[in-house]
Amino acid sequence: MNKSLLTVAIRYEQDVVIARQRARQIAALLGFEGQDQTRIATAVSEIVRNAFRYAKGGRVEFTLEGQSAPQLLLMRIHDQGPGIPDLAHVMSGNYRSSTGMGMGILGAHRLMDQVEIKSSSSGTDVLLKMILPARAPFVDTPAFNQIVRELTSKAPAGALEEVQEQNRELVRTLAELRERQSELLHLNRELEDTNRGVVALYAELDEKADHLRRADETKSRFLST
Ligand SMILES: Nc1ncnc2c1ncn2[C@@H]1O[C@H](COP(=O)(O)OP(=O)(O)OP(=O)(O)O)[C@@H](O)[C@H]1O
Ligand SMILES: [Mg+2]
Repeated sequence: MNKSLLTVAIRYEQDVVIARQRARQIAALLGFEGQDQTRIATAVSEIVRNAFRYAKGGRVEFTLEGQSAPQLLLMRIHDQGPGIPDLAHVMSGNYRSSTGMGMGILGAHRLMDQVEIKSSSSGTDVLLKMILPARAPFVDTPAFNQIVRELTSKAPAGALEEVQEQNRELVRTLAELRERQSELLHLNRELEDTNRGVVALYAELDEKADHLRRADETKSRFLST
């Protein structure tokens, strides 16, 4: 069963920002954590940006699927544009766009649990799927209705707030990255120490074996004389 949470029309440039904000808002209301909220917002805004740029608009529908856990957040971005000329090439990773990025479709694949794309000369349909976190509470009908109410009552903030929010996300991500890097460095050092220890151990064993061999030779010689 699919329950529609919200639909955002993509007509003007600012609708890309609105779609991004709505995606983050919905992700937060469904119990996704900060990093997943950013993943969802980024993937949606990239695909919506494509719909605006290559198909002159379309719409994005947010729906919730599943009557038992795990539930799924589905985001369908639909347009009636000319279709993606060479999807296989884009997916191969060898595609380079005019902006030098070409990370929209590929990026969405990396960020989402699952992506399905249907594209023909009459339009493009991109379905992004994310499994709701195991720790998030199950969204039953009352909870669902509450989320829909919140979405209607809390319209997204302006572009300036969006920039602020994106910067906040970036700072958080960069700080995490630095932490991971220093963890990695630490682990690397530990690994080096362990390796050194193993090498020393082997050298010692070799020496012992050599010693034993020589003792054995001496013994045989002594016995034969
Ligand atoms: N909705 C769409 N309709 C028609 N063509 C599309 C659509 N979405 C993507 N494409 C085509 O697929 C290509 C790859 O899109 P993708 O978002 O991966 O990179 P890009 O838009 O070229 O670059 P970037 O988004 O990084 O600036 C586009 O250049 C465009 O030709
Ligand atoms: Mg793009």
